[in-house]
Amino acid sequence: IKENALLEINQCTKIEDIENVRVKYLGKKGEITNILKGMGKLSQDERPIIGKIVNTVREELEESIRIKKDHIKENEKYEKLRLETIDVTMPSRKRSIGKKHPITQIMDELKYIFTGMGFKVAEGPEIETVYNNFDALNAPKNHPSREMSDTFYINENLLLRTQTSPVQIRAMKAMPLPIKIISPGRCFRFDAPDATHSPMFHQLEGLVIDKDINMTHLKGTLDAFVKQFFGESTKTKFRPHNFPFTEPSAEVDVTCFKCKGTGCSMCKGEGWIEILGAGMVHPNVLRNCGIDPNEYSGFAFGMGIDRIAMLKYEIDDIRLLFENDMRFLNQF
Ligand code: PHE
Repeated sequence: IKENALLEINQCTKIEDIENVRVKYLGKKGEITNILKGMGKLSQDERPIIGKIVNTVREELEESIRIKKDHIKENEKYEKLRLETIDVTMPSRKRSIGKKHPITQIMDELKYIFTGMGFKVAEGPEIETVYNNFDALNAPKNHPSREMSDTFYINENLLLRTQTSPVQIRAMKAMPLPIKIISPGRCFRFDAPDATHSPMFHQLEGLVIDKDINMTHLKGTLDAFVKQFFGESTKTKFRPHNFPFTEPSAEVDVTCFKCKGTGCSMCKGEGWIEILGAGMVHPNVLRNCGIDPNEYSGFAFGMGIDRIAMLKYEIDDIRLLFENDMRFLNQF
């Protein structure tokens, strides 16, 4: 019995097998158990001798089963680990992650700075009325920007907005006073594309209307903006200009952030770079929107986002921004 049992134990490869062998020999009706049960029938002399032998065999078999069980468990563990092995030397699969377009990055940065100063973001449609884009903004009937050769007209009343300034009109008509908004968005002009012109481009408009707003508020706001955007040491310079919708009007230059005003290729040796147009909202524009210019005043400014992105990232051709060449875009 012992030899048979040991042979069977040895052949087991699974925990279930070994359990079957155990039941067969040591279980309630197992062969060894049966012998132990039959001990009563033996004589006084035989009983201790047979009993000793059977118990020894039983202990031996129990020990063998235990060792074999441990062995099988160990093997199973190794097999499991082997199957779960990861080859850490294998090259990983490359995942390409999308990024924000440089224009969107600049827009986000501008929004962040201006909302930090309390401006709300307002948006308007890209298809505008001629009235909102020109008339309400006090553009004289013969203003050159109205020409068919400068503006994409859809019909005599509708056009693709040439600037974000019509959002001023929409805001002043719709919003309760005081108003403090920026409005980023696409604009369109009938320009042949070249390194500095694109028929589609982006502007960001700013508008503040409240009681007692004056030029110092405009200057302070823009000064805070350029310092945050171009760097603390940036200075601004207001040059007199003319826009139909502001009076007085100015073009605003900043010290070249590359050469810090000493003159370089970026600022064409001038030390200054023009970045935006601005001024005090013309009383006619306020009146066109139902606001009393004797009670309220305001300032407005508008800047080209593409131009600012080009300056910041030193991009020398605006067309690169809209060709969607991944080799170009991946650099930002
Ligand atoms: N809309 C003007 C432009 O396109 C910029 C501007 C906006 C100027 C607001 C003054 C005030 O040139």
